[in-house]
Amino acid sequence: MKRTHHCNALRPEHAGQTVTLTGWCHSRRDLGGVLFIDLRDREGRTQTVFDPQDLSKETFDTATHLHAESVIEITGKVRVRPAGTNNDKIPTGQVEVLVKELRVLNHAAVLPFPVDDPEVANKVNEELRLQYRYLDLRRPEMARNLRVRSKVATATRVFMDEQGFLEVETPTLFKSTPEGAREFLVPNRRDPGTFYALPQSPQQFKQILMVSGVERYFQLARCYRDEDLRADRQPEFTQVDIEMSFIEREDIYALIEGLLKRVWKTALNIDIPTPFKRISFEEALNRYGIDKPDTRFGMELMDFTEDFKASTFKVFSGAVANGGVVKAMNAKGMAGATQGQIETMTEYAKSFGAKGLAYIKVENGDWKSPIVKFFSEAEKTALKTKLAIEEGDLILFAADQWLNACEILGKIRLYCADVLKSQGKLVIPADQFNFLWVIEFPLLGFDRELNRWYSSHHPFTAPVADDIPLLKSDPKKVRGQHYDIVVNGVELGGGSIRIHQPDVQKTIFEELLAIPPDETQLRFGYMLEAFKYGAPPHGGIALGFDRLIAILCGTSSIRDVIAFPKTAKGVCLMTDSPSAVSARQLRDLHIEVKAAVKKDAPASGAPAA
Ligand code: AMO
Ligand code: AMP
Repeated sequence: MKRTHHCNALRPEHAGQTVTLTGWCHSRRDLGGVLFIDLRDREGRTQTVFDPQDLSKETFDTATHLHAESVIEITGKVRVRPAGTNNDKIPTGQVEVLVKELRVLNHAAVLPFPVDDPEVANKVNEELRLQYRYLDLRRPEMARNLRVRSKVATATRVFMDEQGFLEVETPTLFKSTPEGAREFLVPNRRDPGTFYALPQSPQQFKQILMVSGVERYFQLARCYRDEDLRADRQPEFTQVDIEMSFIEREDIYALIEGLLKRVWKTALNIDIPTPFKRISFEEALNRYGIDKPDTRFGMELMDFTEDFKASTFKVFSGAVANGGVVKAMNAKGMAGATQGQIETMTEYAKSFGAKGLAYIKVENGDWKSPIVKFFSEAEKTALKTKLAIEEGDLILFAADQWLNACEILGKIRLYCADVLKSQGKLVIPADQFNFLWVIEFPLLGFDRELNRWYSSHHPFTAPVADDIPLLKSDPKKVRGQHYDIVVNGVELGGGSIRIHQPDVQKTIFEELLAIPPDETQLRFGYMLEAFKYGAPPHGGIALGFDRLIAILCGTSSIRDVIAFPKTAKGVCLMTDSPSAVSARQLRDLHIEVKAAVKKDAPASGAPAA
């Protein structure tokens, strides 16, 4: 098979040439006995013309019976399309190929869904697309996503190489170190009852590589987390994982800004301005109610704690008396919110444990709300000024403990933005990218149920030097040297400067996280040991590669940028995995399954090649 051109190559200057093209029958039209087939290959599409005058009856018949997506090879003559029949949407739209010879390389059965319709993603249910993923990936939109992914992976490797980083592969058969997300376990046949775990990230190996003197490590690393899945989370995903020695936070910021600049240029030909803005965790919560703020629109949260601490409206003054805060936001232009929308927002508030959601609709010059009658003139003035209240606005309140109040309104702010977007009242340009470093996270959080501290990032994150004295006296005040990179409200990545002194690390494990010494030894003993032999100061970061590509491709689901993703239930619908295994395989692994097995297991259990 010798194609002379790919399907995106021909232009008017090729007119008169005889060419051979191969590909899939993308779409067809029958016009007055002449048949037009758009032939598609990886690169693009070319219109081919089957005119019965130029072809044997047999060849023409074969062409008329071709199903969409059959694979063919044609040879024919390039000609400029007749005036008025150009297709401006495709680069080959000024020419067509008059077919002389046709070879059918393979017939296609009738498709479960069309691949020539750009709206398929909106019309066909995603499960069907995932079951027939190979067809879905033929769609130009999906093929483009794979191409962007490949280009960005290459650009990343080139950039990191230029910066002196070594790509080192770390094991994916790792040790169970439960923390953070649940792990996937792999039974070990050789020693019954022992298991490998698939790594949640190469965190420990990359730190060990710093002890090894690698100094600058990176990897496009596959990570595994058995957590609840969503549009931006898969059980296996890829990180651009990075670690460096003898550096400070600023070095990581500069490196990542350079990398993202290169990536945006490569993928979108956009020059993103650097350095990125920085915001502290506390300010992000105060203003946006979330630690990954979308700053492409306003509707910022305002604090009214002082204004309402002595209010006759007990819901507010009571919250302040309990050590809480009163916060409010102005959903501009949303006074017309439906009962259903108000209920949705109230449910958000309740999911954080609030009793309800107070709100004011500003309509016909009036503040419509049962609570306004409790407000003093001074309280009203405070609201009016700080929230710049105007006709048509919807004011929403949260009176609660600080974090709760922020998070309730943070969630509602995003919901309101979605509503306003769907009504065309909020328009965000597709090429706007608001990058942000979120810094100064608290090192620890407190789990009320378990009555203990947990690491807000991971236990290897170093405290801010000034806060080390507070570790024992006031742990909640200790800030971590942790940073997240956020773009348009998506957490793209996170990292930290690490603890490199074994004694500090031991204190964190044993005294703050209250891991018993023998357990610390079992889980992290080898790291503490390694750190005794000259661990350099080091730090790093990991970017979610799938999220990065999804942002570049303008999709909200990382499933659209992963060739073979899993459903929200963790299932690969194409291969039907996970699947049951044979009794023999289980016996070999010394595993007995107690739960009822829902899927058929292969009888033989013969290991596949
Ligand atoms: P973290 O757990 O924050 O940090 O992960 C880093 C980035 O990985 C992406 N990510 C995911 N992407 C898809 N599906 C998932 N289930 C998923 N989970 C995480 C996110 C996230 O920001 N070892 C540390 C990094 C470090 O400290 O250097 C780590 O893994 O984009
Ligand atoms: P109540 O006096 O409990 O009927 O509440 C009066 C109004 O305040 C109702 O609209 C409630 O939805 C609202 N509300 C109750 N608790 C809170 C809270 N924690 N934050 C904001 N509004 C609340």
